[in-house]
Amino acid sequence: MSYPEKINELISSAARREKNRNGNANGRAAAFTCGVSVEFRLAIDEATKCVDQAGFTTNGCGYAIAVAEKLADGITGTELVRLEGLSVLEDLISTGIGEAPGGRHHCFNICFDALQNSLADFRRRQIAGWNGEDALICSCFGVAESFIETAVREHGLCTIEAVGASCRAGTGCGSCQPLIQEILDSFD
Ligand code: FES
Repeated sequence: MSYPEKINELISSAARREKNRNGNANGRAAAFTCGVSVEFRLAIDEATKCVDQAGFTTNGCGYAIAVAEKLADGITGTELVRLEGLSVLEDLISTGIGEAPGGRHHCFNICFDALQNSLADFRRRQIAGWNGEDALICSCFGVAESFIETAVREHGLCTIEAVGASCRAGTGCGSCQPLIQEILDSFD
């Protein structure tokens, strides 16, 4: 299969492929229709919440390799609080690679899914070590469940975006957004 030149360049220079096999934020995603899988392994500094290293493995096509490489490179050296729910990385892919060609959307999507799963893995580990009195919801910003509930109750918040604007919860890696939605649903 032939690829556009910028995809070929990313394939041949994929320095993050097979790197960082011992991350503390590991996530995988697969597309069962074609058997492609992608796994990210991130090393995130527990104190600064900065992604010090990122690597990936994939059995996918050139598009999957190119997108995973671009994402791994883009997230390296980035603090979780700067990800804005991965929109920063979505912008990076659209400017650096462009739109997925027809029939290749799943190659792009599983890379984002795998990265999101690796951030969710880090969040689970943070929660396991949390010593606060109630549940930690957003590990990027250290926001506990009771704080979000109080913000929702007192300010009548009804969307994830409104919660984020109020206390920043959910505006980093975005992996806590389903739990924020559950809190919002409990107020319906
Ligand atoms: S855990 Fe990352 S934004 Fe909440």
